[in-house]
Amino acid sequence: MCKETRRIVQLRNVFKSFKTGDVVTEVLKGVDLVLANGEFAVIFGPSGCGKTTLLNIIGALDTPSSGSVNVGGQELDRMNRTQLTKFRKDKIGFIFQAYNLLPTLTALENVEAALELLPFASRKEMKQRALDYLSRVELSDKADKFPAQLSGGEQQRVAIARALAKQPRLVLADEPTGNLDEATSERILGTMRTLNAETGATFAIVSHDPNLAELADRVVQLSDGKIESEKTHP
Ligand SMILES: Nc1ncnc2c1ncn2[C@@H]1O[C@H](COP(=O)(O)OP(=O)(O)O)[C@@H](O)[C@H]1O
Ligand SMILES: [Mg+2]
Repeated sequence: MCKETRRIVQLRNVFKSFKTGDVVTEVLKGVDLVLANGEFAVIFGPSGCGKTTLLNIIGALDTPSSGSVNVGGQELDRMNRTQLTKFRKDKIGFIFQAYNLLPTLTALENVEAALELLPFASRKEMKQRALDYLSRVELSDKADKFPAQLSGGEQQRVAIARALAKQPRLVLADEPTGNLDEATSERILGTMRTLNAETGATFAIVSHDPNLAELADRVVQLSDGKIESEKTHP
């Protein structure tokens, strides 16, 4: 296998700044990062250091101020709108920090919504997939609840099921255990690790929870806008 296909993500010298009024905040200051296909990587960094910004850039939800982003062998800045939409839909499972569930859909419908554009033989098969993933995050009994009827941790698990159900090649998870108690967090991360092993999907998880380090193939530290050090587990 050639080198390029083993790399699912490659960021080269990525800078990102935000301008609010006259104030420019430099968030990413030359990030270089490679994620290998199938890897389970955790990116740590304190609150405000740019973790969400970094994930948004990898997932094509935002663009860097400069530098290049290559995902799955494609330079994102060379893709047009239609290609980017397809890329997000087909390749990426995004677990948002704020869940972003649709309030008027039930837990099951939220997961199904992410599957709607995928080719399923039947509606029934799609529902079965959604139920399977709700079960993996231990929410089978809450399938018919609306987000407002669920706790923060339960909403987070629906968001996880929604991202994973379409079986994306790349899962980008923004503090996916931020609202889970320790025991639940461990089980849900175990579920992700199992899926990673079963499907070979790549996981990039950003977090400030040090408990996550144990599970990772690789731990990356984001500090002062750069990747500071990397620790690789054997
Ligand atoms: N859209 C935006 N406009 C202006 N500033 C932003 C925007 N998004 C993020 N920032 C700023 O960039 C910095 C990093 O934010 P973020 O990536 O959310 O950090 P983290 O996820 O590590 O907590 C923060 O100072 C934040 O206020
Ligand atoms: Mg964040």
